[in-house]
Amino acid sequence: MEIWAVGFSIFFSFLLSHVCISDAQMPGFVSLDCGGTDSHTDELGIQWIPDDQIRFGQTANISIPDETRQQYMTLRSFPNDNRKYCYTLNVTIRTRFLLRATFLYGNFDNNNVYPKFDVSMGATPWSTIVISDASTAEVIEMIFLATEPTISVCLSNATTGQPFISTLELRQFNGSMYITDFENQFYLSVSARINFGADSTDPVRYPDDPYDRMWESDSLKKPNYLVDVAAGTEKISTKMPVDVSKDDRPPQKVMQTAVVGRNGTLSYRLNLDGFPGGGWAFTYFAEIEDIGPNDIRKFRLVLPDAPQVSKAAVNILENAQGKDRLYEPGFQNLTLPFVMSFKFVKTSDSTLGPLVNAMEINKYVKKNGGTLDGSTVTKFVSHYLSADWAQEGGDPCLPVPWSWLECSSDPQPLVTAIHLSRNNLTGNIPSELTNLGGLVELWLDGNSLTGPIPDFSGCPNLKIIHLENNQLTGSVPSSLGDLQNLKELYLQNNKLSGNLPSNLANNRVLNISGNANLHKRNKSSRTGIIIGSIGAVLLLIATILSCWFLRKGKNSKKRYTDQARLGNVLQSQKLPSSLESTATEAAHCFTFKELEEATKEFERKIGSGGYGVVYYGKLKDGREIAVKVLTSNSFQGKREFSNEVTLLSRIHHRNLVQFLGYCQEDGKSILVYEFMHNGTLKEHLYGPLTRERCINWIQRLEVAEDAARGIEYLHTGCVPAIIHRDLKTSNILLDKNTRAKVSDFGLSKLAVDGASHVSSIVRGTVGYLDPEYYISQQLTDKSDVYSFGVILLELISGQEAISNENFGVNCRNIVQWAKMHIESGDIQGIIDPALRDEYDIQSMWKIAEKALLCVQAHGHMRPSISEVLKEIQDAIMIEKEVQSVREGNSDNISRHSLHSSIHLGSMDLGHTDSYLSIDDSIARPTAR
Ligand SMILES: *[C@@H]1O[C@H](CO)[C@@H](O)[C@H](O)[C@H]1NC(C)=O
Ligand SMILES: *[C@@H]1O[C@H](CO)[C@@H](O)[C@H](O)[C@H]1NC(C)=O
Ligand SMILES: *[C@@H]1O[C@H](CO)[C@@H](O)[C@H](O)[C@H]1NC(C)=O
Ligand SMILES: *[C@@H]1O[C@H](CO)[C@@H](O)[C@H](O)[C@H]1NC(C)=O
Ligand SMILES: *[C@@H]1O[C@H](CO)[C@@H](O)[C@H](O)[C@H]1NC(C)=O
Ligand SMILES: *[C@@H]1O[C@H](CO)[C@@H](O)[C@H](O)[C@H]1NC(C)=O
Repeated sequence: MEIWAVGFSIFFSFLLSHVCISDAQMPGFVSLDCGGTDSHTDELGIQWIPDDQIRFGQTANISIPDETRQQYMTLRSFPNDNRKYCYTLNVTIRTRFLLRATFLYGNFDNNNVYPKFDVSMGATPWSTIVISDASTAEVIEMIFLATEPTISVCLSNATTGQPFISTLELRQFNGSMYITDFENQFYLSVSARINFGADSTDPVRYPDDPYDRMWESDSLKKPNYLVDVAAGTEKISTKMPVDVSKDDRPPQKVMQTAVVGRNGTLSYRLNLDGFPGGGWAFTYFAEIEDIGPNDIRKFRLVLPDAPQVSKAAVNILENAQGKDRLYEPGFQNLTLPFVMSFKFVKTSDSTLGPLVNAMEINKYVKKNGGTLDGSTVTKFVSHYLSADWAQEGGDPCLPVPWSWLECSSDPQPLVTAIHLSRNNLTGNIPSELTNLGGLVELWLDGNSLTGPIPDFSGCPNLKIIHLENNQLTGSVPSSLGDLQNLKELYLQNNKLSGNLPSNLANNRVLNISGNANLHKRNKSSRTGIIIGSIGAVLLLIATILSCWFLRKGKNSKKRYTDQARLGNVLQSQKLPSSLESTATEAAHCFTFKELEEATKEFERKIGSGGYGVVYYGKLKDGREIAVKVLTSNSFQGKREFSNEVTLLSRIHHRNLVQFLGYCQEDGKSILVYEFMHNGTLKEHLYGPLTRERCINWIQRLEVAEDAARGIEYLHTGCVPAIIHRDLKTSNILLDKNTRAKVSDFGLSKLAVDGASHVSSIVRGTVGYLDPEYYISQQLTDKSDVYSFGVILLELISGQEAISNENFGVNCRNIVQWAKMHIESGDIQGIIDPALRDEYDIQSMWKIAEKALLCVQAHGHMRPSISEVLKEIQDAIMIEKEVQSVREGNSDNISRHSLHSSIHLGSMDLGHTDSYLSIDDSIARPTAR
């Protein structure tokens, strides 16, 4: 009896433990601990396995205070090169999944350079990971319908640091969860999944959510996440069960908390990653308050950019048919901006303020179908699965090609070259290769390939075929001779036999030596053959050499496009290796007399600075000039002067003030520039003339764009790179058309080529000076980025960089002042009143946020000027769009709603009812 009982309890506990293990997490969870060494189960009950399936990359251990989760103490990093590194995951086709990747930097490389790289899902670009904090994980999520048995996640294109990954998680959804009308062409990238009224900052996830979605707390503090909260917003919660009825709804724990707008309004603003664009947005409501019999809670959603969503009013009790039950209206396809402001506003017949429990917003990401040759290449590779080169994963060509392939640059590319020389290939030449219609070059030499040469007539573009140094047998197919584009054919040192087809004749490089049994058909023209083959050998040598150069060029081009470009610049503008050679030959030398005449004896002064006085002049040929007479002590010597002159004479860019020449006579040093009719940016932003000269927001953006282009040229287009060192609004000049050029390279010094900084005496202008440079005296291009950030802030605010009065007590500096306002979400507080309301708040935000990044304390945290330029261009696009809408040039409703700028501050709540008249057929809410 006892034994039986013991036996039973052992059996029972076995059963229990067994049940526990298999039930420890949902089936359909795959959790890779990248860089991990052993499997483990975390405190949530999720099983993690190491990512040792991947053959590439290096593992690293990191340690971050308070981070105890084992999966975040390791990561895998990859080289910063032009390749991509891919994980391949098994999925079940016709099933929907959530894919999550996380990136916790932890200074794993002891470099303290925050990495920036791209992540793609197969051929589809997914996200650019920009690390901005060493101890906070970046998280990206994608919802997709599996159409293939595997998916791949690839890291590539590191612009700073090394690509790396901490975890990769796959969560299988049930049934029709997240089904959309567009799922065959679009993925859903998760932008926001918010749990309102959360009781802590931790997300609600597994096991509360059986699918391990992370419902982020609304009390989490991060930049531009749920700011502008309306007064009277209150958190509420209930212990009562909430009937969520179906498992694709938010879990009960999320629905048991909410926020209520006691004063009639709930309002929020947040940044939506990946937007603007088309998205999927759902809101989740449950009446969890005890409300009186005469109380009514009725409200509308107000999205300033999408008036049509305001039509339907929500009455939770009615819509959900009872208390503690879920109602979830939403939009399958809604156009949303990057900076989304939204409000829930009570209707006039409502006695209670609005209530919201949760919200989800996903962005549609268009799938890229990938390389047209994808399946052919996959089949080809399947013959060699044990080789590393066959394991690169992802799409063969996108976002970057496998290391041994080249592809065309079409959106859906074709394979154009295969480079598999000396890779120990055995067996026959796989027939898949003959289906690659875009193939131009085939390199299979130096392997151990056997069997016959296949029929390549399916590859009519083939130019170069290398099959030499293999064990190929059989005859040379005449189909090779039919390839009209074939220029070079290398077949030497094989075991080919028979007669060479006659159509493989002239105009081609042909090498067939070392094939004992291969004969040319026509033996009578032996001398012809000999001469021909001597010619062929010469041609061959020439081709090999040129190929070698070409390939070298190609590789470095792929890897270092910028440097290659710089190299060209270097070649075309060969700078003297030492400036002391005073190579002023390119600079025009004016006589003092000439300049005296041109300026009418220095009659009209148009400016002055620390380095001299500038006069207006007109040359005999009618050209207007600006003549800068340097104060004698500003250039200590001849050498410094010739530095400037040499430098100036070699820089030509349409966004840099053109240097025309110099004059050095009678102890006077004079520089001559093109004349800029519209003065300095500074004069347009503030000062006595602002009223008449005031430039609007789009003009300001264009000025910023021009200046950024000029600086970009200095930083990346000149060899060695040039750091301006004294960027400020008085050094940005405007021409007749208010296009801007950067001037005054008086402080420029050639940066030491190759080194990231040059050390020199700190110079610059107070208010624009990079504090890091000031402290370390290490000058980098990021010092210019800092100054440019200050200029952007001036453009937004119309305030000078330094002011004793305008920034409040204890604040003299525009950076401190603007930062305080922008970070607290109050951008209106810094916008130049002179701009009135003629700007789009989105473009304003874009510039404000970039400006703050530019003035980060440390250079490595600041963006490059090229990134800043891109942001300015985006802002201009937004602004132009809005302008064309204002002017009624756009008949595209979705574009309308994307950028129309209705300012919340001025919104009259009484007007919301008038939206009722707007036809809402474009975006009808659907309750799932
Ligand atoms: C990381 O830590 C594990 C366990 O302590 C150790 O086995 C492994 O060698 C470490 N890896 C690296 C790259 O230091
Ligand atoms: C994925 O599926 C393939 C084929 O079914 C199998 O060989 C492989 O082991 C699976 N990989 C993983 C990581 O489960
Ligand atoms: C690589 O990243 C840079 C900067 O993010 C981007 O401009 C460029 O388009 C990317 N290249 C590719 C091939 O995606
Ligand atoms: C709600 O609005 C009233 C009147 O507008 C105001 O007096 C009160 O301070 C507001 N309540 C909160 C919590 O802001
Ligand atoms: C969403 O709607 C717009 C028009 O309103 C349409 O152009 C777009 O293709 C739709 N689908 C997606 C996935 O965005
Ligand atoms: C080819 O095989 C040889 C001998 O096994 C090996 O040393 C070499 O690394 C291999 N080459 C490649 C590219 O795999």
